[in-house]
Amino acid sequence: MTNPKTIQLSNGVEMPLLGYGVFLVPPAEAERFVSDALNVGYRMIDTAQAYYNEEGVGAAIRKSGIARQDLFLVTKVWISNNGEARAAASIDESLRKLQTDYIDLLLIHQAYGDVFGSWRAMEKAYKEGKVRAIGVSNFQEARFFDFAHYVDIKPMVNQLQCNALVQQQGIEPLLKKNDCRMMAWGPLGGQGVDGIVHSDLLANIGSHYGKSAAQVALRWLTQRGIVAIPKSTHLQRMEQNINIFDFTLTDAEMTQIATLNQHDTGTINFADMQFVKHLIETYG
Ligand SMILES: NC(=O)c1ccc[n+]([C@@H]2O[C@H](COP(=O)([O-])OP(=O)(O)OC[C@H]3O[C@@H](n4cnc5c(N)ncnc54)[C@H](OP(=O)(O)O)[C@@H]3O)[C@@H](O)[C@H]2O)c1
Repeated sequence: MTNPKTIQLSNGVEMPLLGYGVFLVPPAEAERFVSDALNVGYRMIDTAQAYYNEEGVGAAIRKSGIARQDLFLVTKVWISNNGEARAAASIDESLRKLQTDYIDLLLIHQAYGDVFGSWRAMEKAYKEGKVRAIGVSNFQEARFFDFAHYVDIKPMVNQLQCNALVQQQGIEPLLKKNDCRMMAWGPLGGQGVDGIVHSDLLANIGSHYGKSAAQVALRWLTQRGIVAIPKSTHLQRMEQNINIFDFTLTDAEMTQIATLNQHDTGTINFADMQFVKHLIETYG
């Protein structure tokens, strides 16, 4: 296994380019799966208040014996915790559940509710050293533009649905302009799109390197400078997904993969009235 490479955030913090995501990992099993991931070599874990498994993540990292500074923990403020006071309390709650003194990267999970209030709490936590970097998630282009325009500390990361079929090329210039890194959720298709791990094109490219379609898909993202956090509950797949730094796709292969783009901005329209109504009425 080659150690995952890192990318530098706008504040100088080094963030791994590859991590392990725990969406839909049941709370009771999170400790076991995160322990497996750490044994395999993952050092970044992406969780969220809304995944209800921060405690399992915390237990796994404590029991791993890995030095805290060698780990990179990401969590997210859920919509029900948006607003300055609630977000501040939720940060302390996440720290308690994760059994740590600091979070490496804290994101606003959804772009609705009092996100400016949450951001003030996050800026304060950042200045106090409870958080090393702050960012957002699911802020599509117009929303990101508005948000970044009005906040004091610009988001350092925007975590978006991004993979070989949902390439998010449109938002890239805006993120670059704001010195904000992209982090890909659903890097293998997740719940949103199908066909990445079964793609003939990706499998064919992979065959030149002895790699699977999934490995090519992850390599393609990280070669674009996008952080990826694949989830798997299978040890063999965890191993496969992290072993992507010992080969390099050619420019021609990168361009070929770019032709797979189907839904550039994602399969969820975060401005859709029914979606927003559901989010706010269910969680707000
Ligand atoms: N910010 C957000 O709103 C948001 C939304 C969604 C996800 N996320 C984050 O992003 C992470 C990853 O996204 P995701 O979990 O939705 O999807 P994903 O990582 O793209 O895909 C996970 C699926 O792919 C399968 N898989 C994993 N490795 C594979 C391989 N090598 N070959 C074949 N199949 C493989 C997994 O099955 P098995 O488990 O059975 O191996 C699982 O069904 C999440 O865990 C979470 O941390 C964030």
